[in-house]
Amino acid sequence: MAKKLRIDKILSNVGYGSRAEIKIYCRRKMISVNGEIINSPGIQVDPESDEILFNGEKVNYREFIYIMLNKPDGYISATFDKHDPIVLDLIDQSYLVFEPFPVGRLDKDTEGLLVLTNDGKLAHRVLSPKKHVPKTYYAKIEGVVTEEDTRAFEKGVILDDGYETMPSQLNILKSDDISEIELTIHEGKFHQVKRMFESVGKKVVYLKRLSMGKLKLDETLDLGEYRELTEEEIRLIEER
Ligand code: URA
Repeated sequence: MAKKLRIDKILSNVGYGSRAEIKIYCRRKMISVNGEIINSPGIQVDPESDEILFNGEKVNYREFIYIMLNKPDGYISATFDKHDPIVLDLIDQSYLVFEPFPVGRLDKDTEGLLVLTNDGKLAHRVLSPKKHVPKTYYAKIEGVVTEEDTRAFEKGVILDDGYETMPSQLNILKSDDISEIELTIHEGKFHQVKRMFESVGKKVVYLKRLSMGKLKLDETLDLGEYRELTEEEIRLIEER
């Protein structure tokens, strides 16, 4: 069923100004619906099927937005921070009007895939501990990572607070003084990857998230760059 909303709410949601400003634009005859100039900001419109023009240009209404960010080092995964830059500082105002927030957290020094959305239900499902959405990380590790670590991670390791991790898959790319690995975990405890390596006496010196569910980081995005997800990619976030 089509959902009707007040025209001033629709336009303010997508960044055309406050409700008070939209009222003024109505008086100035700047808004039309299905070819007719409207004079009341309170009229009900179906943003999916009615054609809304603002100053002659088509209004592209969406309820939800989904953004893939290649998060750089130095940014906090939050919507506010007193001291440090936040990931939203990297996002253009035309997207911020939708009030996106990060789906889960990456540490300040972790890079890579971060999804931002205003779809609270999707975020809730993806982060639910019951869903076990897998997350794959690439990391550089101080210390020689061995097959013994792979077996320990597959079994589950005990973190510093006594928590036993679920089975995770460790793929050793390079085993040396600085090793390189890929690790897939199915839960999201605080600093989980770093603490898992601490539990086997090793230190993560670089961490990057490569994927969430079946959604992979678009490697053509430079650090700090972002783009909207396609419909197919939105589905992939939740797939295991
Ligand atoms: N595990 C960590 O230790 N840090 C992150 O940012 C993500 C997973």
